Amino acid sequence: MVQLESTKCSFLLCLGICILICFTIYLKVKVSNVPQAIGPPNVMSCPPLPDNCPILPSPSPGFKWQRNNCKEISSVNKPEVNCTRLRSELHFIMMPLSKEEKEFPLAFIITIHKELETFVRLLRAIYAPQNVYCVHIDAKAPEEYKKSVQNLVRCFPNVFLPSVSERVTYAGFSRLKADINCMKDLVRSPIKWRRVINLCGQDFPIQSNLELVRYMHSSEWKDRNMTPGVKQPPTMQHRTEFQYEEVKDSHVARKSKGAKKGPPPHNLTIYFGTAYYSLTRQFVEYALSSPVAQDLLKWSKDTFSPDEHYWVTLNHLEEAPGSFIKGGWEGNIRAIKWRDQEGTAHQGCEGRYVRDICIFGIGDLPWVVNKDSMFANKFETASFLEALDCLELWHRNKLLQQAKVPIQPSWHLAKVVSVNSRSLNVKTVLDQLSPH
Ligand SMILES: *[C@@H]1O[C@H](CO)[C@@H](O)[C@H](O)[C@H]1NC(C)=O
Ligand SMILES: *[C@@H]1O[C@H](CO)[C@@H](O)[C@H](O)[C@H]1NC(C)=O
Repeated sequence: MVQLESTKCSFLLCLGICILICFTIYLKVKVSNVPQAIGPPNVMSCPPLPDNCPILPSPSPGFKWQRNNCKEISSVNKPEVNCTRLRSELHFIMMPLSKEEKEFPLAFIITIHKELETFVRLLRAIYAPQNVYCVHIDAKAPEEYKKSVQNLVRCFPNVFLPSVSERVTYAGFSRLKADINCMKDLVRSPIKWRRVINLCGQDFPIQSNLELVRYMHSSEWKDRNMTPGVKQPPTMQHRTEFQYEEVKDSHVARKSKGAKKGPPPHNLTIYFGTAYYSLTRQFVEYALSSPVAQDLLKWSKDTFSPDEHYWVTLNHLEEAPGSFIKGGWEGNIRAIKWRDQEGTAHQGCEGRYVRDICIFGIGDLPWVVNKDSMFANKFETASFLEALDCLELWHRNKLLQQAKVPIQPSWHLAKVVSVNSRSLNVKTVLDQLSPH
C-alpha cells in the first residue's frame, strides 16, 4: 500500500516536472519570437546594400547606404494585404511626377516567367499612375508564382494580366503572340496611351519616365515608331526560308527535311531587327486590323523568331501609321553587351555571358549608364544581385531629382546612415547628393 502510494507520488512528481519543463520551453520559444515579430522592419531580413556601387557617390567616411524601411516582398504580398500598405512599403510612386508625363501616358507590355522580386523591382521602377501595364506571365510558370503576381497586380488599377496567356518558347511564335494578346487588351483600355513599349523580366530602365516621354516626343521620334532593324541579311534568310516549329516548352527547330516556305504575302520585303520596340497606338490598331499585317502574321507562324521580323517589316510599309521606311538601326532601345562586340562596342562583361549576352555585374554599370539607352538587358537577381541593387538606387534617385512634386518619404529606397548608429544622422539619398 505504502509502496503503491510512493510510486503514485513519484509518477505525479515526474508528470509535474515534465509539465514544468514543457511550459518553460514553450515560454522561451514564445518569448524569443516576440522581438522578431514586432521588432523594427529592417536590415535583419533584408540584405545590406553594396558599398562599392560605381555609379553612386560614395557616402562620406563613417556613413553607409541603408534600405529605407525595408520589407521582404513575401511579407507584404499576401492575398488579404492592405493595398495602401503594400504600395507604400514597396516604395511605389503613386503620383505623376510632372505635367509633361501626365499628358503623355505610356503603355508597357512585360513578359515574365520567374523571379518575383526582379519583377517587383522592374515594375516599381517604371510604374506611374498615368501609364498602363500589361503583365504576361508564361502559362507554364508555377501556379504559386502566378498567384503572387496576381496578388501584387490587384493593388494597381492600371496593371493587368492579359485575357489570354501563352506558353512561351524562346524564339517561337508564342513570344510574338504574347505581345499581341496584350495589345488586343491595351487598345480597349480607357487610358489614352501614346506609345507601347515591350519589356522582359530581365530588363531594367536606364531612362526615367520623364526621359522616356521626352525621347518619344523628340523631333526624331515624334509620331514615329521605333523598330531598329534592316533588310534581312543573307545570314538570317534561313529564318523565313524554311519551316520551323516549337518543340513544346523547349526550343524552336526546323521542320522535317526540305520543308521550304513560300514567299512572303503581298510581296513584302522582310526586315530583321530587335524584338523590342516603341509603337504608336495608331500603328498597333493597324497591326491588329489590316489584312496585310494579318497575312504577314499568319505567314510568320512557322518562322524562326518572328518577333525579330514582324514589327520591323510592318514599320517599313508606307501605309502603316508612323512608319519609318528609311529607318535602320536608329533608336536607343537597349544597352546590351553582345559577346561578339567585345573590344569594339564594349570592353568585356564583368558578370557572365548567357547565350552570348552579358548578365551585368556591378562593374558593368558605368558602361550601362553611359549608353543612356531607354533600357538595359540583362539583369539577374539570383546571380548578380548587387548590380540591380545599385542601378535601382541610381534610377530612383534620378526620378526623385527630376520630380516636379513634393517627394513622399516612402519613395526613397535607401538612406545614408552613420555606420556606428542605426538611427542617428539619417540622410536621404537626395540630401547626400544635393550641392549645398
Ligand atoms: C490600410 O492601411 C492604411 C495605412 O496603413 C490605413 O489608413 C487604412 O485604414 C487601411 N485600410 C484597411 C481597409 O484596413
Ligand atoms: C514584287 O517585288 C519585286 C521587287 O520588290 C518586283 O520586282 C515585283 O514586280 C513585285 N511583284 C509583284 C507581283 O508586285
